[in-house]
Amino acid sequence: MDSRIIQLTGASLKYGNLNIRNCGLDFFPQGILGGPTRDTAKTKIIIHPLGFSNEIETDIPTDGRTGKPRWIFRERAWVKQFMRTNRLTPNAKVIITRLSEERYFIAPAHHTYTQQLFSTGLLPIQMQKYSDSMNSPFRYAGGKFYARKLILQHIPPHKNYCEPFAGGASIFFAKPKAAQSHLNDLDEELMRVYRVIRDQPEDLISFLTGKPATKELHSYYKNEFQPKTLLEKAARWYYLNRTSYSGIMNIQNCYWGYGDKFSKRPENWPCSIRQASQKLQGVKLTNYSFERAIEESEDGTFLFIDPPYFNADQDKFYTCSFSKEDHYRLRELLHRHRNRLLFLLTYDDCPEVRELYSWATGLYNKEWNYCINRTDDQKNGTSRKGQRYKGKELFILNYVI
Ligand SMILES: C[S@@+](CC[C@H](N)C(=O)[O-])C[C@H]1O[C@@H](n2cnc3c(N)ncnc32)[C@H](O)[C@@H]1O
Repeated sequence: MDSRIIQLTGASLKYGNLNIRNCGLDFFPQGILGGPTRDTAKTKIIIHPLGFSNEIETDIPTDGRTGKPRWIFRERAWVKQFMRTNRLTPNAKVIITRLSEERYFIAPAHHTYTQQLFSTGLLPIQMQKYSDSMNSPFRYAGGKFYARKLILQHIPPHKNYCEPFAGGASIFFAKPKAAQSHLNDLDEELMRVYRVIRDQPEDLISFLTGKPATKELHSYYKNEFQPKTLLEKAARWYYLNRTSYSGIMNIQNCYWGYGDKFSKRPENWPCSIRQASQKLQGVKLTNYSFERAIEESEDGTFLFIDPPYFNADQDKFYTCSFSKEDHYRLRELLHRHRNRLLFLLTYDDCPEVRELYSWATGLYNKEWNYCINRTDDQKNGTSRKGQRYKGKELFILNYVI
């Protein structure tokens, strides 16, 4: 989350003027500058002032004579009330935080709630839906996209966050970013793509620019293309992931599965890559086996643990297989660290898993509904348009929610 501090003045109290010059134009979306009058406003942002139940839509006006920004929000009637509610006087400092491209949260800089917000990486509950929440840049088989809202409800406050089995990391991308985050997956290629998205988003975008989503190109990248550099390897992986059925990257099961109506179109890939890159800044990315990621986590870290299923054969999805012994090792490890780390583990609900985790604080059978509103041009031509599904898993927690 990006934020700026500004200082209130006498004009804030008298006229509702917030001097936002310090924020700079790059803090706001393109097109935020409107003309001198209301009817010339273009892109608007939405402001959530602390203590308000309503939101304020505004742009930044420009001076009619010079055309330069006036460095105040056009909507100002709320400022007086905001100062009164939060007992602010001229000279007090205020923090403006960018929650997403269009939403901003404003609170007094001294406020303990605001400080808590920054130190814990958590946002007030009512703000969470507007936070830096986004979708994974990948399509990922077995990903938790449809369960993300339910999972978010079970996440405790934390400063440090780790996903030892990151995959498409739907929960990391959906939740507000913690002060420290760590994504780990044994799949080396996957983690390489994360690194390229984090560190070289524009190079990746340049490579992909002008490449349409076609069966021919999919086949070329899958069977013929010989990547020479890390960037080329990552770009090949990204292209196949976006155009394969369910994002399955295990090469034996990686079939063409793109459709203009249900898939993210190539012209939207750059935006998704840039957004993901922003969220991945400062995130530790590793491709260890899960033990090392868990053992290296600092005391008090919250881990969202989503291993391959216990009973289903998921080897067709993933490039690394996970044996029964691996499941037992995971159990031993979590038992050993149960008093040091907080974890939410998700599994297929079966007697063996219940038995393995009988010592956990909570074992909950959870269900969620979802609808796949698409057709997948899979090898066998299966059509699943509009079909309803029920997701079902066991949530295993070592803390009380
Ligand atoms: C169920 S998926 C995770 C999906 C993820 N939660 C999401 O939302 O996309 C399980 C992941 O575990 C990874 N994996 C398999 N064996 C592993 C191991 N020994 N250590 C770490 N990751 C492993 C797989 O590569 C796969 O990405």
